[in-house]
Amino acid sequence: MNVTLRAPEKTDFSVLAALRNDAAVQRQLMIEPRQYSPAQVRAWIRRRTGDAKGAFWVIDRGGPCGFVQLTQVDRERGTADLGICLVRAVRGKGVAAEAMGLLEAHAKKKLRCKTLTLRVLSVNHRAIALYGKLKFRILETKRRHHFDGAHWRDVVFMEKALR
Ligand SMILES: CC(C)(COP(=O)(O)OP(=O)(O)OC[C@H]1O[C@@H](n2cnc3c(N)ncnc32)[C@H](O)[C@@H]1OP(=O)(O)O)[C@@H](O)C(=O)NCCC(=O)NCCS
Repeated sequence: MNVTLRAPEKTDFSVLAALRNDAAVQRQLMIEPRQYSPAQVRAWIRRRTGDAKGAFWVIDRGGPCGFVQLTQVDRERGTADLGICLVRAVRGKGVAAEAMGLLEAHAKKKLRCKTLTLRVLSVNHRAIALYGKLKFRILETKRRHHFDGAHWRDVVFMEKALR
């Protein structure tokens, strides 16, 4: 099935709200672990889509199945920070790699990005394996850099030069 990136629509709300409120996803994305009301989820989507230094897309594969985002787009330096999240049902099917390919192409062609950066918990082996496969390299690991509400976690900083 074809993977595309597109702007969020009203009908994506339940999928995005479920991801935003998934405790494991909250840990992995290093966002505050708590329940987000529908109004707070809508405010998050508005913030992300309205960010002049960012971009936010729904990953579509016969329906919404996750999102990718760029933040801190710096047009002078040609850098941006990326994030990705998929619903559980489509993990392990190559969707993440396809979505990342589309995101990289957009960042390079439309936003003139030369380098993409990201942060990932050192315990998120699956995401680190994905990024490694896509030729991101580890810049450094900051020890006990993020408090997830229960534990201080090591955070891996990675980057990829877009060619
Ligand atoms: C991170 C995420 C986008 C990856 O997508 P995915 O579809 O699960 O990725 P893949 O299945 O293609 O996995 C990537 C690689 O990790 C490997 N992998 C899977 N589980 C693993 C594990 N527990 N430990 C190590 N490697 C693992 C896979 O085998 C695969 O490698 P391969 O293609 O060579 O076999 C997805 O898991 C997700 O949305 N997770 C929740 C949010 C998240 O963590 N986002 C990233 C935050 S920085």
